[in-house]
Amino acid sequence: MKVLGIETSCDETAAAVVEDGNNMLSNTVASSMAEHAKYGGVVPEIAARSHIQSIEPVISQALADAGCDWGDIDAIAVTQGAGLGGSLLIGVMTARSLAITFDKPLYAINHVEAHVYANFLTRTALPGYQLPAKPPEFPLLAIIVSGGHSQLVLFRDHFDYTVLGQTQDDAIGEAFDKVAKLLGLPYPGGPAVAELALKGHPDSFQLPKARMNKYDFSFSGLKTAVLRQAQAAIGESYDFPSTKLPERLSAAQKADLAASFQHVAVGTIADKAKLAFEEFAPVSVVLAGGVAANQALRQQLTEAIPLPLSFPDLKLCTDNGAMVAALGCFRRQLKRPQADPYRLPIDPNLSM
Ligand code: KG4
Ligand code: ZN
Repeated sequence: MKVLGIETSCDETAAAVVEDGNNMLSNTVASSMAEHAKYGGVVPEIAARSHIQSIEPVISQALADAGCDWGDIDAIAVTQGAGLGGSLLIGVMTARSLAITFDKPLYAINHVEAHVYANFLTRTALPGYQLPAKPPEFPLLAIIVSGGHSQLVLFRDHFDYTVLGQTQDDAIGEAFDKVAKLLGLPYPGGPAVAELALKGHPDSFQLPKARMNKYDFSFSGLKTAVLRQAQAAIGESYDFPSTKLPERLSAAQKADLAASFQHVAVGTIADKAKLAFEEFAPVSVVLAGGVAANQALRQQLTEAIPLPLSFPDLKLCTDNGAMVAALGCFRRQLKRPQADPYRLPIDPNLSM
């Protein structure tokens, strides 16, 4: 069974063909990231316009790379939410039109859930991917860390899950992006902070871990603590403008702030994941979402949890069509409800 997955929730226009939920036949991504970089974050209008230009070529490429024509495709899966309204619309309207035109079953996919399914991709003939040897098993603890979400989710089976906890304010990726801005680093901030952190000492600044309900997170206080410590480090008070910090902080101070922030941010995730592991005794633990690319997070989790941690190839941590197609395969295989191609709405605030 072959499913075409379409993903346009943010700034990546992505499409992929996946066979049987585990074999990635193609994975095409066009990103408008470079156009947003000069604004320091994703500009929704630019993202939507870029999706319009890219969607058709990206889908055609995904089909060609997979050696498929429409006759080979059994179903279409598309990200319905969460995400930017304008961006989601392009993907959903395209998928609806294609489903009607080629008479294919249509599946509406939750973007955050799809990130978890990147871990089910275990086979590909495409060059340059390092995939896990076997798929995760249930019960499965998913640590979902992206620019928009930070969640711990316990899956008892496909489509049978409980959200144990989530962020009450900023997502961890968002905190990485905001701290990057304070330090004068380019967008997207996560990789830039992680790289700079390699040159700093993680214990040079004392930053707080937020005290929250058992499995919930908070990252906005941590980001503010980084701001205050940066102001104090240059001998200024709390009203010193954050935009002027990059020119006043020394290279060593920036590296130390990056390292201290990263240490506490990923440590918070590792602490809670360990707690959940001890309470629910999952058989597999998987990492998902853009921040899953963070090496310090992988390291701290590996130390905290006595099971081999599963994480997707770096290219499958950030937004892609293969994770959407993989989840779509399981939806079809397990006879989950289809979407109406004449009616499927977008849902920018869709939650798990
Ligand atoms: O999953 P994703 O591509 O988009 C969302 O669904 O949000 O995640 C993007 C987020 C951004 O905040 C980016 O800064 C962060 O993932 N990110 C990282 C790293 N690579 C990407 N954060 C920390 N370390 C990284 N290496
Ligand atoms: Zn994402």
